[in-house]
Amino acid sequence: MARITAGLATSHIPALGAAADHGKASEPYWVPAFEGYDWTREWEASEKPDVVILVYNDHASAFDMRVIPTFAIGCADSFKPADEGWGPRPVPLVEGHADLAWHIAQSLILDEFDMTIINEMDVDHGLTVPLTMIFGQPEAWPCKVIPLAVNVVTYPPPSGNRCWMLGEAIARAVESFPESLNVQIWGTGGMSHQLQGPRAGLINAKWDNRFLDRLEGDTQELRHIAHIEYLREAGSEGIELVMWLIMRGALGARTRTLHRHYHVPASNTAVGHIVLEPVT
Ligand SMILES: [Fe+2]
Repeated sequence: MARITAGLATSHIPALGAAADHGKASEPYWVPAFEGYDWTREWEASEKPDVVILVYNDHASAFDMRVIPTFAIGCADSFKPADEGWGPRPVPLVEGHADLAWHIAQSLILDEFDMTIINEMDVDHGLTVPLTMIFGQPEAWPCKVIPLAVNVVTYPPPSGNRCWMLGEAIARAVESFPESLNVQIWGTGGMSHQLQGPRAGLINAKWDNRFLDRLEGDTQELRHIAHIEYLREAGSEGIELVMWLIMRGALGARTRTLHRHYHVPASNTAVGHIVLEPVT
């Protein structure tokens, strides 16, 4: 049977990808942001996941105002890095796991989550920057990736509670897949940041760290944070953190923290990263 063995969350700041792509990760400004991922890179080398379910949001690369799926799952065999205005990032093709993705889509829809099924999609920094931060710059990504896109760009995004429930349903879907697979789930985006308006550049380290505290252990407080609190405390783009709750919901009642990293600033945002394992 397939199993979700671990979950992690990470910011997907585009400037981190640009720093890696242009050989700037060793410059003093970027070192503190990148070195928080060293532990995870080593850990992944021994964990060797077969598949990562990568929860992220598209930033007007694959979707725009014409089509806005709340939850979409990528069922294709592969996904190309998107051209976000400067050409595609120089990163490997993202290989999907169509059999598992279709199985999860079927399981979720019959479990009453109305997923959008995507068979052709380019993936932007929301998906490729986490792969770079966790796996570095290999010739090919070391595992298959199932993209799971969430609308957090256009109001209304899904509630944190709905995201948590989706995570629980994803765990049920994975556990019912007959092939033996080591599956991880990653939640990306966040933490506090605001890209526009008078509060542009907002970072709230205290609130971010409290959020990280509550991913650990067995508290379910995070699923009940209202949208208005994300907006007020974490800025207009802090709502991306609901995607972390899909990862957290998929890990079950209780988690243990294996690694945690927080650094400000990187570009005009906070960098947050945590690695969790389920406690059964
Ligand atoms: Fe984002």
